[in-house]
Amino acid sequence: MTTQARTLNVGVVGLGLAAASVMPAMVAMPQVNLVAGVDINPRALQVFKEKYGAKTYSSIEALCNDPDIDTVWIATPNTFHCPHVILAAGRGKHIIVEKPMAINLAEADRMIEAADKHGVQLLCGGSRSSSAVVRNMRQVVVSGTLGRLRAMTTWSATDWMLRPRRPDELDVSQGGGVVYRQAPHQVDSVRLLAGGKVRSVRGVTGQWMAPRHTAPGFFSALLEFDNGALATLIYSAYGYFMASELFEPGAGGPDAPGLAGRIEARQHIITGTRDEAAAKEQRTLEAQRTGQVAGAAAPRGARFLSDLGLLVVSCEHGEMRQSPAGIYIYGDAGTTEVLLTETRGAYAPELDELYDALVYGKPVLHSGSWGLATLEVCLALMQSATEHRDISMQHQIAVPDGA
Ligand SMILES: NC(=O)c1ccc[n+]([C@@H]2O[C@H](COP(=O)([O-])OP(=O)(O)OC[C@H]3O[C@@H](n4cnc5c(N)ncnc54)[C@H](O)[C@@H]3O)[C@@H](O)[C@H]2O)c1
Repeated sequence: MTTQARTLNVGVVGLGLAAASVMPAMVAMPQVNLVAGVDINPRALQVFKEKYGAKTYSSIEALCNDPDIDTVWIATPNTFHCPHVILAAGRGKHIIVEKPMAINLAEADRMIEAADKHGVQLLCGGSRSSSAVVRNMRQVVVSGTLGRLRAMTTWSATDWMLRPRRPDELDVSQGGGVVYRQAPHQVDSVRLLAGGKVRSVRGVTGQWMAPRHTAPGFFSALLEFDNGALATLIYSAYGYFMASELFEPGAGGPDAPGLAGRIEARQHIITGTRDEAAAKEQRTLEAQRTGQVAGAAAPRGARFLSDLGLLVVSCEHGEMRQSPAGIYIYGDAGTTEVLLTETRGAYAPELDELYDALVYGKPVLHSGSWGLATLEVCLALMQSATEHRDISMQHQIAVPDGA
């Protein structure tokens, strides 16, 4: 794409839950055209066609041969990210790939090489570091008004483990479990806030829900940054306590929304009485139709993002956290609230980022190297859990100037 171009013409690869959340942003943005989608499931293609009226393909090769498409958003299962990125780069498409970027660092290296070789942008998207909450907190940190950044805490609790899953989503060797799937939100966010460079990682994981004990449903980690800042990350995915309750007073009680469904799902998992493939497809197709993912909704009007969780940023002279409508900034002189709105959908910032890079030459934050550094931290968290020691980081990069 040249600097004269004014639209991203996008093909979506993998029309599942992630895609269902991304596509409303594409439709809402005048500088983005949703040109086509590809999936190996004909029912997903059918629903996509009915909802968006865009072209459909049954193979990524066919979609990438479409000259009307200059950009692909890759939202296939984790094991496909590497081959799909390499294929799309080879056909000259700019790429946004969902988190986690890849299963291992060797894959990530090959993806970066392919993008460089073919002169296309590779953006590692889909993480909550793009959210208005995190970006605005970053501005406050950089402004220095609260003094030096000292520590960050993210604490999330969701029902990730109770949702219908394919076998690969519960197999760590295929990128399954909450470290691969959910830690990138927290890691990417604290890296952005602290400038990017993690020095060492100590992590623990837990997998205690039979029969879903094949992949972590819990993790906790302590990250030390080069600049001395610390981050504590916690994620629990067993769906008893939901962190979103913290933003809706009273929502954790016996009549909590979704509680009956979570109890039922847990029972079905334990007794093996749910058809996982059918339940997953039903949930996915419903998400495509409505543009909303069941069970992933934030409390009404809140800036709370359940997969990031409660984020508390502690500086020398103040702290920040999400408020119901933005962020609270606590300082020596009192508390202020910054109101935040993003009406175009949660994924609009990634599309803006790619657009600004292609059209205005702005530096990309979520580059391949940035994504690789986040993946390195997630992999180290799991390695540390196994080896019971700190893991030193080798591939960290700083937030680029101007990003
Ligand atoms: N950013 C987020 O908030 C977010 C949310 C959910 C998932 N994700 C990420 O998105 C990716 C997909 O997750 P999901 O939950 O949407 O999964 P999903 O199973 O709901 O969707 C994946 C889709 O890809 C299709 N697919 C599989 N192989 C394919 C192939 N070779 N070619 C074309 N289509 C193919 C499947 O049929 C399915 O429709 C994962 O990497 C996940 O980590 C991100």
